Amino acid sequence: MQRTANISELRKIIEEEKKLGRAVALVPTMGYLHRGHLTLIENAKKTGAFVVVSIFVNPLQFGPNEDYARYPRDLERDARLIEEVGVDLLFQPTVEEMYPHPMVTFVEVSQLDKVLCGANRPGHFRGVTTVVSKLFHIVQPDLAFFGQKDYQQYLIIRRMVSDLNLPIEVRGVPIVREEDGLALSSRNVFLSPDQRQEALILSQSLREAETLIQKGERSARGIEDFVRNKITQESQGVIDYIEVRNADDLSDVVEIKGPVLIALAVKFGPTRLIDNKVVEVEPDV
Ligand code: PAF
Repeated sequence: MQRTANISELRKIIEEEKKLGRAVALVPTMGYLHRGHLTLIENAKKTGAFVVVSIFVNPLQFGPNEDYARYPRDLERDARLIEEVGVDLLFQPTVEEMYPHPMVTFVEVSQLDKVLCGANRPGHFRGVTTVVSKLFHIVQPDLAFFGQKDYQQYLIIRRMVSDLNLPIEVRGVPIVREEDGLALSSRNVFLSPDQRQEALILSQSLREAETLIQKGERSARGIEDFVRNKITQESQGVIDYIEVRNADDLSDVVEIKGPVLIALAVKFGPTRLIDNKVVEVEPDV
């Protein structure tokens, strides 16, 4: 595996691969890799492309009171893991390499970035789309892989690529869960054993909400109330949001008709977890 923290060096390596006619696939991450990331990498590898994994904890997407400083980091462990799965190139820039001077240019996907996680994390998605655009310009991938645990992020990046005509195919990869249902997240390490146990309520309530919809429930507010009541009654989690939205464009849904996203963010102690489920609904004939 090749490894660099330097943008010019990375560009040279990519240029050589492109000369050989190889497609390039990018898996952008913030490190502290888990099976979810490794699944993204496996999907990238299956395409036969030259696989680049970036590891960069992006300060621009953290608010002043968020967990940038505390975000877990272990670059050497990450490097070992991705070497084992056969990544071609690890890009691990420093903050100075990515942001040599204060940024005054940003990429913003409006509207989609104001709901769900965007409502209580102003500037978060602007930070994500800005760093992902920078990574896209640096690596110039043909394909890029994103996990659907961050479903809103995945939709926002697809929209950015479409609106800006970037020649990149964005692929979403389904959520990877522990056997007991907990969605994999780098932040799970912060949960105490009790909080981890309580956090199972998230995937359980999403599964039960899906069953309710499959049995005929069509009220979006009804589903939100069901999930909210379950989480409130059965855990000490503090709800940030629980929302049912259109799974294609995140627009408001009153009556559940097409595919819907049930998305939630809940805090267990200081640790904020997100989870979601996309539920397909056959249109009534
Ligand atoms: O999903 C993440 O880990 C980050 O938001 C991303 C896409 C790597 C941008 O920093």
